[in-house]
Amino acid sequence: MDLAGGSTTVEDLIVLAEGAASAVQEGVRTHGAGRTAEALLTEVADRARLFPSPQGEVPVQFDLGFAGQRLGFSLTAGPGSVKLAGGWLPDPSVIIRQDLLELLREVYGPAGRRHATREVHVAARPPMPGLAADDPIAQHFNNAQLATRQVIAALTQPPDDLTELAVRFGSDKWGHHWYTPNYQRYLAPYREDRVKILELGVGGYDRPDVGGASLRMWKHYFRRGLVYGLDIFDKSGIAEPRLRTIRGDQSDAASLAELGGDLGPFDIVVDDGSHLNPHVITSFHALFQHVRPGGLYVIEDVQTSYWPGWGGNSTDLNDPATTMGLVKQLIDGLNHQDLVRNGEYEPTYTDRTVTGVFAHHNMVVIEKGLNTEQPAPASIPR
Ligand SMILES: C[S@@+](CC[C@H](N)C(=O)[O-])C[C@H]1O[C@@H](n2cnc3c(N)ncnc32)[C@H](O)[C@@H]1O
Repeated sequence: MDLAGGSTTVEDLIVLAEGAASAVQEGVRTHGAGRTAEALLTEVADRARLFPSPQGEVPVQFDLGFAGQRLGFSLTAGPGSVKLAGGWLPDPSVIIRQDLLELLREVYGPAGRRHATREVHVAARPPMPGLAADDPIAQHFNNAQLATRQVIAALTQPPDDLTELAVRFGSDKWGHHWYTPNYQRYLAPYREDRVKILELGVGGYDRPDVGGASLRMWKHYFRRGLVYGLDIFDKSGIAEPRLRTIRGDQSDAASLAELGGDLGPFDIVVDDGSHLNPHVITSFHALFQHVRPGGLYVIEDVQTSYWPGWGGNSTDLNDPATTMGLVKQLIDGLNHQDLVRNGEYEPTYTDRTVTGVFAHHNMVVIEKGLNTEQPAPASIPR
């Protein structure tokens, strides 16, 4: 399998951000204050795309303190993108000063961090009362304010809900399908965690730079998450910090097991790949073992379970070769202790580890844990 878009530094920083003060200081020293600042502001620039930008380009000077040094970086807010550069601007309209360690905790630490060391200066001169809105001085001030708001929003505001993120990044998980409200029901409790999420099916098929809409949606929903996307085609063109693509075939159980061993355990796995029934079943058995206890495995587009052209079956709805046949087995497995059987029965891996199966239109969510509750008392006649 090919791995694209590694980001060890970012992974390390996410872990570091919840450490004790002395460990954070030492960790940043080890990574290098400049590299840490660059990684954090790359993330801020990416998050800033979610918020309204000024009409014209406005560079915002960051002045970050670490161990008696000052580090200069700028983020240029403007229509379309937010660009990061190193160094000091000669005459910045906006200056944000902050302690680097606090910025690390704010960007990648658990929610609710305060920004006690941040100072914001908008150096642009406010226009005199009565100045026309299209006067250059008024426009300059307005843009400086908007740039400040955009960057501060990226630092402090949680991203939008999943449906808004799906629309923004063009994922068909809302609008074509209607999955995001259901996803939000299950994923909201994980939102502030350092989750690892793997999605089968990046999108865009054979075009290397196209696709990744849902991966970006996950990345912004889980601001501390690491997002992995597997696709049969090369998708290295869409890799970015916290978002990594892997080339591989979801019907190849051995490669999936290797992937799970290398990158797992995952908190969440989503199957939005080929939707061919044999592939869905192979992927589930290979990857469910690499979901952590307490995690979720989601299968989308389970309607193909009923479509013969996709390996499905509309006649025998329990056909074990279909996705819904698999789901039915998992539901029976939830109650394996209570089934009346002749002779010994050795519970399967999924009998022992599936603790919940939640079905919605075209989508199934499978919860992992320890399914070891006692059966009903033996004194009750079967
Ligand atoms: C529906 S798109 C994924 C859309 C994406 N998850 C989203 O919501 O934005 C399906 C993707 O699955 C990939 N795919 C098809 N067969 C596959 C297989 N056997 N293994 C891995 N990926 C596969 C396709 O190349 C395609 O990019």
